[in-house]
Amino acid sequence: MTEAKRRELMDEIEDQIRTIGVLTSGGDAPGMNAAIRAVVRTGLSKGFKVRGIRRGYHGLLKEEIIDLSARDVSDTIQRGGTILQTARCQSMRTEEGQQKAAAICKKYGIDALVVIGGDGSFAGAQKLANLGVKVIGLPGTIDLDIACTDYTIGFDTAVNTAMEAIDKVRDTSTSHERCSIIEVMGRDAGYLALWCGIANGAERILMPEEHDYDEAALVEDIMECKRRGKKNYIIINAEGIGDTMNMAKRLEEATGIETRATIIGHMQRGGSPTCKDRVYASTMGAMAVELLANGKYNRVVGYSNGEFVDYDINEALSMKKHISNFQYDISKMLAI
Ligand code: ADP
Ligand code: F6P
Repeated sequence: MTEAKRRELMDEIEDQIRTIGVLTSGGDAPGMNAAIRAVVRTGLSKGFKVRGIRRGYHGLLKEEIIDLSARDVSDTIQRGGTILQTARCQSMRTEEGQQKAAAICKKYGIDALVVIGGDGSFAGAQKLANLGVKVIGLPGTIDLDIACTDYTIGFDTAVNTAMEAIDKVRDTSTSHERCSIIEVMGRDAGYLALWCGIANGAERILMPEEHDYDEAALVEDIMECKRRGKKNYIIINAEGIGDTMNMAKRLEEATGIETRATIIGHMQRGGSPTCKDRVYASTMGAMAVELLANGKYNRVVGYSNGEFVDYDINEALSMKKHISNFQYDISKMLAI
């Protein structure tokens, strides 16, 4: 065998993936367990060893690493939250932390890491990729704010949870002929607010993307709707706008119409995942392993134009997403 051939073979062996790690990071999202389960079971079926990292990057830096068997993920597909726990980790934002994380992956023989989380978690994965860890990102966030995908694990469950809660508020709001301002999650993104606004037939949607809302115009609109015979006035306010309690007081004072505030809060992040979240998360988890088995890595899995797709992680992170102006505009028309 020539020296060149021997080196080529050695490189191939070095490049081979034997062990896949999986972690969840950032805010948890219903369906993450379905994705973990799919990574574990597809991985084992294809002959890989699978290791779970607990508490996201924080746990990676603390070496909280466990072996995962097919039975370890039994009875998890229907559960909300994440069986691996999740965390936010400041150290991972530093070069020192990133190098330590890459070294720990090497120490535990983790050749490839599946990161289930949002954009921030993908940024961490990108840093690991630059340090030689093979990574796959799976979009997991209730916020739907990942540019390369029309679907994120957890959004469907969260938006349905919020919608059902808002329906209940509407019942009492109508009975009392009140104005209701209801805060949904989304610090930087208005997708939950927009979808609930349309699904619940809200009169007004306030989103971080349209921050310059005019409160005087809002007061005028509430009064006008009352004159037109509306029995209630529902405002969906995204967490990123906030100030929900004070806004309710100000609106009541300005309109003379009883106004109540409801903050739905973290119940939107929990609960048993919907069928869609279970199926899509399972598909994405299996796809992550398929990609690795086919020698593809440093990719992010997404769902676009009705198909599951994958992008180079750098390309995925450079993409931009904009809330649909069309949907925002029709939400106003549908509320006349
Ligand atoms: P999400 O993944 O849902 O967007 P965060 O933005 O909170 O959630 O990010 C989750 C974690 O990912 C952070 O706590 C941090 O450990 C890591 N992370 C975020 N941004 C970066 C970055 N620029 N570089 C390295 N790691 C990052
Ligand atoms: O997971 C996304 C999200 O729910 C955002 O909508 C929200 O702003 C944020 O996480 C809140 O996270 P936490 O309460 O865990 O800090």
